[in-house]
Amino acid sequence: MEKIAIIGAGLIGCAWATVFARAGYPVALYDLDAKALENAPGQIDATLKPLLAVGLISEDPAVILKRVSFVSDLAQALQGAVLVQENVRETVDAKKEIFARLDALAPKDAILASSTSGIPASSFTESLAGRARCLVGHPINPPSLVPLVELIPAPWTDSAVMERARAIYAGAGQVPIMVKREIQGFIVNRLQGALLAEAFRLVEDGYVDSIDCDKAIKDGLGLRWAFMGPFETIDLNAPGGIRDYCQRYGPLYLDIAKQAQPRAWETPLLDQLERERLQALGGTDRPARQRWRDGRLMQLVAHKRQQESGG
Ligand SMILES: NC(=O)c1ccc[n+]([C@@H]2O[C@H](COP(=O)([O-])OP(=O)(O)OC[C@H]3O[C@@H](n4cnc5c(N)ncnc54)[C@H](O)[C@@H]3O)[C@@H](O)[C@H]2O)c1
Repeated sequence: MEKIAIIGAGLIGCAWATVFARAGYPVALYDLDAKALENAPGQIDATLKPLLAVGLISEDPAVILKRVSFVSDLAQALQGAVLVQENVRETVDAKKEIFARLDALAPKDAILASSTSGIPASSFTESLAGRARCLVGHPINPPSLVPLVELIPAPWTDSAVMERARAIYAGAGQVPIMVKREIQGFIVNRLQGALLAEAFRLVEDGYVDSIDCDKAIKDGLGLRWAFMGPFETIDLNAPGGIRDYCQRYGPLYLDIAKQAQPRAWETPLLDQLERERLQALGGTDRPARQRWRDGRLMQLVAHKRQQESGG
């Protein structure tokens, strides 16, 4: 299989290395910080072992880890790569600097993808000779568990590059979605932002507290959302399908949308939310709850995988 170069061996870089190595790709992982490179094998190993325990991988983690080389020389990392996945600091200057080097050093037909959470590719690739091969490949943390990756072109990204990128991510077991043109926040953060904005308004205006609001998702809407999106949900929620649903409930949602004014998220609402969160944690510390979350997520992903393979 063809080589993947991962640039930056932090949280996301190590997770991408895990994704491609477990799919069988040879991976070169590069970082300018020697300490980050030193810690990376342990980080990848710690991700792989629980995946093996829940059946999300079947190979020995040591075999998978052997596919990753930890490289302190950028040119060496890029040599022969078909996809370069960048994961350095989230600033425009850092992205500009690393993309100029990637464009100069990577094989001419290699795809250059950034994991950026919110910086459009047009703001750091415009002046590059190879700008047509640059895009954003935005993962959801951690990509080793959450398969979605949003692919966002700059205005000058070649559509054949987008298609090749889609095929590589899908071949590695991820679920790419194609964003047709740049937009702030891409798709996932815009959807999450719309829900959060309404949740903040409802709590601030005293209609519900944050604990019950969370239940509305985890014991209500969210149960379906693990296996279908909002359009399929409404298509199945009216006898005549999506048009029928929109005719019945569209006016209600239009009224609600008209009431929604943008608001900043600040004190005193934040005091209330913090109080309610501390109470909900009930003495458990946040890192312990984060480990609990990751375990539950892993079981859910394993369940979905089993259903999809007909098991
Ligand atoms: N953390 C998340 O939840 C998340 C989710 C999706 C996308 N992202 C995006 O992924 C990218 C990386 O985030 P992270 O959380 O892994 O950060 P991180 O701080 O954990 O890792 C960044 C790594 O990049 C290295 N680095 C910095 N400059 C470099 C350079 N010029 N060359 C090589 N290595 C360099 C650092 O030494 C560090 O190891 C960011 O753009 C971030 O927005 C993060």
